[in-house]
Amino acid sequence: MGVEIIRRMAKHVAVLMGGWSAEREVSLRSGKACADALESKGYRITKIDVGRDIATVLQTLKPDVALNLLHGHPGEDGTLQGILEIVGVPYTHSGVLGSAMAMQKDLAKLVMRAAGIPVPGGKVVSRQAAAKSHVLERPYVLKPVNEGSSVGVFIVKEDHQYPPQELTRDDWEFGDVLLAEPFIAGKELTCAVMGNTALGVIEIVPTARFYDYEAKYAPGGSTHLLPAPIPPHVYEEVRRITLAAHRALGCRGVSRADFRWDDSKGIAGLACLEVNTQPGMTETSLVPELAAHAGMPFPDLVAWMVEDASLDR
Ligand SMILES: Nc1ncnc2c1ncn2[C@@H]1O[C@H](COP(=O)(O)OP(=O)(O)O)[C@@H](O)[C@H]1O
Ligand SMILES: [Mg+2]
Repeated sequence: MGVEIIRRMAKHVAVLMGGWSAEREVSLRSGKACADALESKGYRITKIDVGRDIATVLQTLKPDVALNLLHGHPGEDGTLQGILEIVGVPYTHSGVLGSAMAMQKDLAKLVMRAAGIPVPGGKVVSRQAAAKSHVLERPYVLKPVNEGSSVGVFIVKEDHQYPPQELTRDDWEFGDVLLAEPFIAGKELTCAVMGNTALGVIEIVPTARFYDYEAKYAPGGSTHLLPAPIPPHVYEEVRRITLAAHRALGCRGVSRADFRWDDSKGIAGLACLEVNTQPGMTETSLVPELAAHAGMPFPDLVAWMVEDASLDR
């Protein structure tokens, strides 16, 4: 009887994971870690590897909350959020518009710039143009306008005579629109928002050629320094900008902003690269590390997300 009452009272959380984006594997890892954490807190869990039948699956399951742990399309770009609104299942992280804007890097930069947030310069170019000749003075960066996890990112250095020829491949999967930005030398920083508060700042020191997909997820690929060993006024400025970017894009719940800091230019050398509305949630991911540093253990962080879930975000 007692157990039955608890079972009836426990919130039923659908853990949305996997999907079909390039970041499927890390999403599955986030899903497993978060499901275990929620179970340890007494929640009822159903893990869902998201497919194109997700609306029907949710309508049949009728969970109290969806914990969205997808990255890329369709979990991070607003489309899954639209389905959750339509089927009426309260969900975590940002809503339809915030997700869609943050995902589209060129648009997000426009909105952030209008809000006074420092972002890199650069321009939008076609894949063909970027493959044919240098579209900016070297060194520069080429990246898909709407991918994540450094997928399809190229750093073109001074001594690279030609643009990356991978762009001409028939099996190129990352779209025909790219963002070209001047390469910002210096440090890689990241900071997160939880609700209305910015957490701490991590410096990411890559051990690989550049901070790419393997470096981010392979063990030992990068080292995290928390708190980032940077001057206090820069640290505080990163936190301020992270919260301002989250608000400018209309984000909700947890988000994480990525920065470059050209430390030769002082505080003027800070540039916000992007806001991630669906940051990684494995136990060793950046957001859980920042939350733990703020005194919030992983299971509490995941429970906070579930309790923060809503519709109309
Ligand atoms: N303008 C830039 N200058 C220097 N490095 C950059 C620049 N843009 C991207 N990078 C590098 O590429 C990585 C991925 O870029 P980012 O804009 O964060 O996209 P995503 O993480 O969605 O792939 C960054 O973490 C950074 O290491
Ligand atoms: Mg990034």
